[in-house]
Amino acid sequence: MKIKSAEFVVSNSDVAKCPKSSLPEYAFIGRSNVGKSSLINMLTGRKSLAKTSGKPGKTQLINHFLINKNWHLVDLPGYGYARVSKSTKKVFQKFITEYFAQREQLVTAFVLVDIRHKPQPIDLEFMQWMGEHGIPFSIIFTKADKLKPKAIENHIAEYKTVMLEFWEDMPNYFVTSASKSIGKDDVLDYIEGLN
Ligand code: GTP
Ligand code: MG
Repeated sequence: MKIKSAEFVVSNSDVAKCPKSSLPEYAFIGRSNVGKSSLINMLTGRKSLAKTSGKPGKTQLINHFLINKNWHLVDLPGYGYARVSKSTKKVFQKFITEYFAQREQLVTAFVLVDIRHKPQPIDLEFMQWMGEHGIPFSIIFTKADKLKPKAIENHIAEYKTVMLEFWEDMPNYFVTSASKSIGKDDVLDYIEGLN
């Protein structure tokens, strides 16, 4: 899929205020700092469409972007960022879970995981929650530029082993790098196939 247009629509913390349109929607979620906003900029080819930062906790709201005037891409706050106060963290979790539970336009979610790390309980728990709520998702491994191909292969093999303890199959997955534009066509073509 070619991206012809990408426009910011609205940010908010209330799922009820998300766009009323019935356009198909795709959401990006994962731990703080995993690279959600950077990936969105890479996919859309717009350098600063979504705000990014070296400090975790940059994205704090549900951000809707209209792509090619016919689908929505959604940038979400990260989960599991320990440095925000407990009450703020709770707000994130509440509206993140409300978003997934209530947003009927959502076609699928992408759960982003840093390729460099071993499977983390918080990600596994989040995917478990998605499974229990019947919310379809794929995994996107991020920051692939940080590892050599062999190490990428090993990390994915390890991820599969852990996932198969909980799941019948390894979910669909993509290997990406926002800084090297790796995986762009794979993700966009996948979305096009579902749209
Ligand atoms: P929050 O909004 O805080 O939840 O973070 P986020 O998941 O949106 O992460 P963001 O895109 O802001 O990126 C976090 C940091 O990781 C930034 O310093 C990015 O430059 C860096 N980063 C993101 N993607 C990549 C990548 O593919 N490769 C490398 N090397 N760095 C990346
Ligand atoms: Mg962000």
